[in-house]
Amino acid sequence: MTVLSVNVNKIALLRNSRGRNYPDVLEFSRTCLALGVKGITVHPRPDQRHVTRQDVYDLSAYLKNIPDVEFNMEGYPTPSFLDLVLEVRPDQCTLVPDEPGQLTSDHGWDIAANSQLLQDVTGRLRAANIRSSLFVDPVVSIIEQVPGVRADRVELYTEGYAESFGTLSEEAVLQEYRAAAAKATELGIGINAGHDLDLNNLERFLEIPQILEVSIGHALVVESIHQGLEPVIGKFQAIISRANLSAETSSNL
Ligand code: PXP
Repeated sequence: MTVLSVNVNKIALLRNSRGRNYPDVLEFSRTCLALGVKGITVHPRPDQRHVTRQDVYDLSAYLKNIPDVEFNMEGYPTPSFLDLVLEVRPDQCTLVPDEPGQLTSDHGWDIAANSQLLQDVTGRLRAANIRSSLFVDPVVSIIEQVPGVRADRVELYTEGYAESFGTLSEEAVLQEYRAAAAKATELGIGINAGHDLDLNNLERFLEIPQILEVSIGHALVVESIHQGLEPVIGKFQAIISRANLSAETSSNL
């Protein structure tokens, strides 16, 4: 079953562009949860240009009291990021190979080149009871390396799919994601997905039945400017519910 995790970085970015706590990241997250969202994602970058350490503390304290809602922290595992993760203990930590100052995440891990780091970090997360996930490109040979670093899940980087959506290469690109998802399932690795998913391309992507979580920020905020948050979350949730129903129906056949 797929759940939506709303990435609130863009709300923090808007707030940081002025001096006041407006929009309020916590209030925005509360509204998302009131609309049925089951996950909140933050990506605290070293320069704190989006969510800050304080946002992480505030959201973590709030979400700890809400049952059935997951807190997902993403980022490159620097010592200070890891200290923060181990201090607040989110439900999930998604490790992303991005450089400080990078505009946005734009590639998955080279697992072989980082295996010692990743193994150490997933071990520390496991000891703290935090689920680990690795941001990866949809490549079967990369998925095959995941058990070696003992990550619980992968997050498939979906920009390639989003770029291909509506073009002649869409089916071939989606096939790469299907193959990566099938390999992960065969190896007992859970699958999340994110980056550039939107109201147009999500439904087709969720034809891949094994996706446990989609993390969506940019398109959700942009569409909310045009249509309002409530209808936009309603539309994302409707797409996800249809996909869940269809996956359930086919597994019962
Ligand atoms: N996953 C990761 C690792 C990301 O860095 C981001 C963007 O912060 C997302 C998912 C969400 O992407 P988008 O904002 O395009 O929905």
